[in-house]
Order: sequence, then C-alpha cells, then structure tokens
Amino acid sequence: MAPSLTNLKISRPLTLKSGLVLPNRLVKAAMAEWLCDFETKLPSERLNSLSKFWAKGGWGMLITGNIEIDPRHMGSPDDVAIDPNQPIDDILPYFTRWAESFRGSSSFDDNEKRTPVLVQINHPGRQSPRGAGSRGFFEQSVAPSAVPINWGPGVLPWLIRTLVFGTPRELLESEIEEIVRNFAHSARVLAEAGFDGVQIHAAHGYLLSQFLSKETNLRGDKYGGNAEKRATVVVEVIEAVKEATRGFKGFTVGIKVNSADFEREGEMEDVVKQLKLIVEAGVDFVEVSGGTYENPSMSYGLEGKKSERTKAREAFFLEFSSLARRELPEVPLMVTGGFTTRLGMEAAVAQGDCELVGLGRPAVLNPTLPNNTIFNKEVKDEDAKVYRRKNEPSWLIRQLGIKAVGAGADTTWYTKQLQNLASS
Ligand SMILES: Cc1cc2nc3c(=O)[nH]c(=O)nc-3n(C[C@H](O)[C@H](O)[C@H](O)COP(=O)(O)O)c2cc1C
Repeated sequence: MAPSLTNLKISRPLTLKSGLVLPNRLVKAAMAEWLCDFETKLPSERLNSLSKFWAKGGWGMLITGNIEIDPRHMGSPDDVAIDPNQPIDDILPYFTRWAESFRGSSSFDDNEKRTPVLVQINHPGRQSPRGAGSRGFFEQSVAPSAVPINWGPGVLPWLIRTLVFGTPRELLESEIEEIVRNFAHSARVLAEAGFDGVQIHAAHGYLLSQFLSKETNLRGDKYGGNAEKRATVVVEVIEAVKEATRGFKGFTVGIKVNSADFEREGEMEDVVKQLKLIVEAGVDFVEVSGGTYENPSMSYGLEGKKSERTKAREAFFLEFSSLARRELPEVPLMVTGGFTTRLGMEAAVAQGDCELVGLGRPAVLNPTLPNNTIFNKEVKDEDAKVYRRKNEPSWLIRQLGIKAVGAGADTTWYTKQLQNLASS
C-alpha cells in the first residue's frame, strides 16, 4: 500500500457517542445498488461481491444503499427489503452473509481500525412507483397527507404523476405506529446480522422527509401542525431503533436529512428546531444532503443559490452545515455532495463545518479513493482530486424540462457502474 498522509484532520479517527471508532473522516455515502435477489428481495451474491471494492479502500465508514423496511412500499423493484412478517431466522443468514462480505477483505489489519459498515433504512412514502412494491399495482402509495409529487407543468409530468406514481393515500395513525415498529425491526435484524449500525433515511423526499416538510405534511394530529410536531415520527423512529438494538455494543444510529432552503422564509428556523429534537433523541451523527424527486439538488446542489463561500468550498451543503453546527455544537455532522479535492475536504473539516466528508459518485468511479489518492503521500495536493463524470440529460429530456428525469439519468448511469463492478 502507498505511504499514507497522517497530518491531515480528515485522516484522524473519530469516536462516535455509540463508541464506534471511525478510522478516518472519509465516508462512502449511501448509493442504491439495485442488486437484490429479485424473487425474495434479500441481498444477492452480486450485492455481496460489491462489498470488497470499498472494504479495501481505506474509508472511515461505509454506508450501504437504502434498503426498504416494508416490501409493499419500495423505491425500486431491485431494492433489498426486510419483510416484518417473515421470521427473523429465515432471513438472517442472508444479511449475515452481506455483513461478512465487507469483513473478509478489510484493508485495516487490527479490529480497532476496520471500516465500520452501516445500512441505510428507508420507506419511500409517495416516492414509490406503482409496481415497485408487493402492494397491488393499483394500490396507492402512502404519505403523511394526500399530496402528489409535483413534476411540473405539461403532459409528460401529468402522465408520470398519474400513471407511474399516482396520488398517495394519507396514513392512519395506526399505520404510522406500524411503520415505526418496522424501522425498529429492520434495525434489529441488521444488528443481529453483525452490521455496525443503521442510517435512517429522512432526506431526499422519502417518507420521513415528507413528514418533516410543511409542503407534504398537512396533518392536524400529533404528527403535524408545526415544525416540532412534524418531527414526531422521526423522533419515534430513532427511539424505537435505539431500543430495539440496545443490547448491541457500539451499534450506531445515524440519520440523513435535507438542508434548509435559505430562500424560503422560516425554513432554516424550522429545520433547526427539528434537528434539535432529532439530536436529543440520541442519533450518533447527522448527514446533511438535499433534494427530492421534485428538485434533485442532492446531485447538483441548490441552483443559483450558492454563496461565493460555498462555490469556493466545492461541497453543496456546507453553508447549511456550518449554520447548523452553531446550533448543534455536539453532534458530528457529515456533509455529502460535490466534494472534489483533498484540500476542499480538509478545509471543511479543519474549519469545523463538518466532522465527516461524504462521497457518493466518486466512490463508484474510484472505490479505493482514500487509499490510492486522498491519503496517498505520493499524490501531490494539486493532483489529489476525485474523478467526477457529469452525465448530462439528453436534448429531449432538457426540452421536457423535468429536472428529476435529468438527475435520474445521472443516477442510473452510476447505478450501472455499480452493477458492472459487482459483476467484475
Ligand atoms: C447511483 C446513486 C444512488 C444513490 N442512492 C442513494 C441512496 O440509496 N440513499 C441516499 O441517501 N442517497 C443516495 N444517493 C445520493 C448520494 O448518497 C449523495 O448524496 C449524492 O450522490 C451527492 O454526493 P456526490 O456529489 O459525492 O455524488 C445516490 C446517488 C447515486 C449517484
């Protein structure tokens, strides 16, 4: 292995409140692999064979792509799902093999320094296309309120909304309680399988993010009404997940949330109020991202709203993170999206805007990025850059003007690369 740079803040270990030790600050962010066994929705051997590429990369932490907590509601038919109605003993061997697939080839020699692996757990809510889950083809998706995805004006957006997604059905309180239990059940299965933790997906417009947002949560019961009440279900999920995994030493519970849109009045205040409740509920770290299917800023950042400071600092959501940091001085923050250079990553951590640097697409193109580039002493600062390929949407898609379809094309290209790696 190349000699490693040890004088950087991003190369220092971090111990989370759970006791989990991250050997450095570079984290492979969640990226949906779309590699379940199609019949059972359990992890496939191809999914397991992908793990080794990152396991030997020198990362501080690996977060898997999102898996679903209920096979009736899937973001894609190729997602892994944990069926709460299946006996744990029947499915556990599949998750144990997946957890072990990361272990066999760790680049760190002692147990203390191996790369921890977290699984991202999710419910897509209204972002579940028809036919993706085991619910009937004409059965609606579910959401805090019956608010359909707004794909914009025109015929194609109308068709996507009507034919592909439909209008979601408002969840009953009893169904929300069941969803909370299902998050906890999935976390328990993953803890028993030997994973180091879970990341709760409350970003990118999926169910928990729909609850947090005042655009999609119009409820008047205990789950809606003001910023704090909109966070109730997220707090309940965190508490239930922690309770279900209490006996597993070091088991870590992180969360991924969206950054606030500074241009919308009151949004920053609302998000900070919600984050305070989320942190009080006991998460070990908070990842900041952004975007939904309506406005996929997770891929390109907030259009036209980047301050000079953000532009200079390369990552999309650093400005939000540094503001959130002042309100939440204790919890480790992870920022994901747009990081490109060793110096940019180091500046974000050294200046205290975040503790962890999340990398998505660069980790697909170069799964051993920390070892071969960022921490490699032989690579000079000016050359220590990630390779980023931006897949522009076609002319037709640009004319149709649906941002999500353009971003979807980029994501699909990267998913294909992940699947090629799995087969190599
Ligand atoms: C192929 C692909 C799949 C993704 N799947 C997920 C996912 O399952 N969960 C998630 O939180 N983010 C997902 N993302 C978003 C990434 O985690 C990350 O936030 C985004 O790519 C921005 O980081 P980057 O600029 O370093 O790529 C995905 C991104 C890509 C490219």
